[in-house]
Amino acid sequence: MADSHHEVWQNAVVHAVEDVAAGIRRIVLRPELPHPARPGEHVDVHVTIDGTVQVRSYSVVDAADDGTELAISVFRSPNSRGGSVFMHGLEPGQVLEITQPLQNFPLRVGAPAYVLLAGGIGITAIAGMAALLRRLGADYRLVYVARSRAAMAYLDDLAALHGDRLEAHVDDEGTSLDVPALVAGVREDAELYMCGPIRLMDAVRRAWADRGLDRTSLRYETFGNSGWFEAEPFTVRIPRLGVEAVVDSDESMLEALERQGVDIMSDCRKGECGLCQVTVLALDGRIDHRDVFYSDRQKSAGAKMCCCVSRAVSAEAGAAPDAGPAVLTIDVP
Ligand code: FES
Repeated sequence: MADSHHEVWQNAVVHAVEDVAAGIRRIVLRPELPHPARPGEHVDVHVTIDGTVQVRSYSVVDAADDGTELAISVFRSPNSRGGSVFMHGLEPGQVLEITQPLQNFPLRVGAPAYVLLAGGIGITAIAGMAALLRRLGADYRLVYVARSRAAMAYLDDLAALHGDRLEAHVDDEGTSLDVPALVAGVREDAELYMCGPIRLMDAVRRAWADRGLDRTSLRYETFGNSGWFEAEPFTVRIPRLGVEAVVDSDESMLEALERQGVDIMSDCRKGECGLCQVTVLALDGRIDHRDVFYSDRQKSAGAKMCCCVSRAVSAEAGAAPDAGPAVLTIDVP
């Protein structure tokens, strides 16, 4: 889906920072060109990593009605050395370059019922939708899942606001979400909006398809930020161009190749549009497909991948962390 309006970059002053859960920091920004934010919208942000400027996307968790203040929340994974470290280093008074709020996860108002599903930091894309549905008096359930309660940002606020409509599922408390049961219990005319780890979203998509529910009633935001395996550094080669680059665990293949001066088309940079696809020529390792563009069949064929989000991991990823890094040989259009 295309963004609803063109990107307008502007300065924003960091007004406040606050830790709201384990590894999650809330950052309140005051943009110089305020624009109201609607549920599901995000801002793109310029972050500086090793002296180079890159773009990261963060959902607007909440905002003043006139857009003069907006809050994002950033999760810093323990092995991150990039964008989230930069964001966690921000202090009040600093100036950041951000876009005006951009929409590619719109909430369709007027459905008979809604299920909102958030996994971990995905709550940032979902919380605003829940607040709006509550204001509208809509029929909705807010399902929030995470590994531990300490990692659940805004849980108390959400419980106070949504009461019984909020269901929390916490893995280390033995209350993990039963995805097939969730989907089995969804009204046929309901719409489900979700944002979370790809494993969770994939399980929902499969259960949704198995039940034969309308595909257009299942909507999701990916941000391309989680895969089947932990991100590892790997080597990418383009023999035709004589290019070789190491893709660090905290950057995308697209970013690493752009740094080498390779010209690659891209648009969403979130694994949704397919514009950045590359052809896989050889692989020592395996592909961690993180896009929502290809079908399962295309993914298992392994001939193409979206280089903005998908990665290579060592063949033993998950089983033997000390295995050598993957080496991926590709060609670009
Ligand atoms: S740029 Fe859209 S899928 Fe990669």
